[in-house]
Amino acid sequence: MDPSLRTTYRSLAAGRLDHGHVAWRLFQKAKRLGTWDPAAFDLAQDAADWRALSDAERDLLRHLTSLFVAGEEAVTLDLLPLLETMAHEGRLEEEIYLTSFLWEEAKHVEFFDRFLHEVAGADDDLHAYHGASYRTLFGLELPRAMDRLRTDRSPGAQAEASVCYNMVVEGVLAETGYHAWYTVLRKRNIMPGTLEGIEHVQRDEARHIRYGVFLLSRLIAEHGEPVWQTVQRRMMELLPTAVGVFTEALTELEQRHGRIPFDLDPEDIAGFAMTQFQKRMARLEKARSQALGTLLHEDPDIP
Ligand SMILES: [Fe+2]
Ligand SMILES: [Fe+2]
Repeated sequence: MDPSLRTTYRSLAAGRLDHGHVAWRLFQKAKRLGTWDPAAFDLAQDAADWRALSDAERDLLRHLTSLFVAGEEAVTLDLLPLLETMAHEGRLEEEIYLTSFLWEEAKHVEFFDRFLHEVAGADDDLHAYHGASYRTLFGLELPRAMDRLRTDRSPGAQAEASVCYNMVVEGVLAETGYHAWYTVLRKRNIMPGTLEGIEHVQRDEARHIRYGVFLLSRLIAEHGEPVWQTVQRRMMELLPTAVGVFTEALTELEQRHGRIPFDLDPEDIAGFAMTQFQKRMARLEKARSQALGTLLHEDPDIP
């Protein structure tokens, strides 16, 4: 390495690391709240509860888990170019936070993988559970948006990556998925270890979404209207695919079993997804009028 390539260090320069930076504060939260161990949950009761379910109910949970575990795998595999982008731009606070972000996604894979092994006892191939919308979102849109950052780190490319990853996959899909899990598990009061694990996953994801809100807000504040137009356009373009993931899954389950197991209500699920979408849009709309200095140091607990 050319010794003149790096001549200055944030940690040495006057001002040093910004401890009030929202990403730095998210990292502090991640160290306190994100260090839970997916291997530590006791799933014995969950396995017993599984055995008491009907075939149709097991099929729904296998279906739901197949969406989650592959989604966690995809976001683990696809995050790195965003981390590299922040490193490339010297955004040290953001890169430091993203190290915890990637580690958490890896743990989420472990958690749902444990469920498949130890609760569902599934060792068969589950790819058939993925419908057209799922394959489009996770097989095409997400990897394309993230991989593009390797050659194009423009504000527009960063915005498109974050919209797909943080706003749509995490902010709409995952949030709606937790709602489905909670509806099933709490209604029956079953699988306490799984429920506890999902609560931990969701808490990590809230920080991930918060980072996405920050990143998009920063890009809008720094680069103005063209980035906002890109954000709005990509949100609208990806919405039907995001909602389609759930409508396709529930339609398929209904066709296979004559009714949807656990009486999950498609309107409730689609409505929940739309509400999440509207919340994300409203939050980003608010960012349009925020000054850069304000949002850089905004409270990370403000969703
Ligand atoms: Fe995750
Ligand atoms: Fe995440």
